[in-house]
Amino acid sequence: MQFRDFIQQCKTKYYHMKLAIVGASGAVGQEFLSILETRDFPIDELVLFGSARSAGKKYTFRGKELVVKELQHNDDFKDIDIALTSAGGGTSKEFEKTITRHGTIMIDNSSAFRMDDDVPLVVPEVNATDCANAPRKVIANPNCTTIQMVVALKAIENISHIRKVHVSSYQAASGAGASGMDELEKQFEQIVKGEKPTVEKFAHQLAMNVIPHVDVFTENGYTKEEMKMFNETRKIMHSDVQVSATCVRIPILRAHSESIWVETERPVSVQEAREAFDKAEGVEVIDNPDNNEYPMPLFLSGRDEVFVGRIRADLANPNGLTFWAVADQIRKGAALNAVQIAEYMIKEGLIK
Ligand SMILES: NC(=O)c1ccc[n+]([C@@H]2O[C@H](COP(=O)([O-])OP(=O)(O)OC[C@H]3O[C@@H](n4cnc5c(N)ncnc54)[C@H](OP(=O)(O)O)[C@@H]3O)[C@@H](O)[C@H]2O)c1
Repeated sequence: MQFRDFIQQCKTKYYHMKLAIVGASGAVGQEFLSILETRDFPIDELVLFGSARSAGKKYTFRGKELVVKELQHNDDFKDIDIALTSAGGGTSKEFEKTITRHGTIMIDNSSAFRMDDDVPLVVPEVNATDCANAPRKVIANPNCTTIQMVVALKAIENISHIRKVHVSSYQAASGAGASGMDELEKQFEQIVKGEKPTVEKFAHQLAMNVIPHVDVFTENGYTKEEMKMFNETRKIMHSDVQVSATCVRIPILRAHSESIWVETERPVSVQEAREAFDKAEGVEVIDNPDNNEYPMPLFLSGRDEVFVGRIRADLANPNGLTFWAVADQIRKGAALNAVQIAEYMIKEGLIK
């Protein structure tokens, strides 16, 4: 095929993408709608799916009213090129075959397939090329806390291999979905009214508290969220790095923060690290302590980048460096990362 014909074919394909969002009513699903609305993403048709609970709900997208369809085991995905799924692991497992059997690429936000050998786990700034090897037509979007960390780690890994990472996270209520945000807002309202806060979503009252517990505990004393940071980081970075994490839920609505210590193979100076972060794709440095400037979730929600600041030498380790990272976990930690995967696959001609 002539190169010109190939480009024409790509363009034709590019402008005929049929997309689905599964879990459209959820926190991530709503973010998909808002990201796709503003991004120059080639959509001819968008189909929204949910459970029977949200079937029939209407959302406006690019001036058109879309009605949520109930996700069922039928041929609804026959002409769909890409399905962006964010409806929980159980739903993803149950509907994988229904979604992919006609060739649809499923970019999945749940933890259902992340560690499967035949499913690439992708953060485009780090390992986009892994998308080329997706025999099941499934690409997994990593855990939100891991995504923002590896975008920052990649900058350092480029200059010296990272051997160890210690990290403490400060995670927003919305990490637990739309109902997590609702519960936090309700608790603050109840406290102001002098009422006893309702606790359903989190293990304890989150308002006026911090909870050192995200996801369920595993046998080694770490939570699943903490083990995701260990295992997923190694898979995404193709690295033997060891990650020891403490994941903490804090009473804010949106954007996760992380305090990160890395140990590199050779000492990396603060200046070198700053230059590496400055150059890194998807990273923005805010690090001006003289003016009290550093990344904060309150001011960075709704933004696409991973923000890095407080870059310092580790006083306890000559090969250590420490910094602070903030990112909107519903955007870069979920919906935006999945859209970037889709964009990369379209650009590389990897969509059927
Ligand atoms: N929130 C985050 O920061 C974040 C970050 C990264 C990854 N994730 C992952 O993304 C997924 C969604 O999270 P979320 O925060 O958006 O949760 P959420 O706000 O609770 O939304 C869940 C969505 O899943 C849909 N759903 C549930 N069961 C379904 C079924 N059987 N069939 C079809 N749709 C079904 C719900 O639809 P109905 O309204 O019809 O029930 C809703 O749209 C989860 O796997 C989560 O782990 C979330």
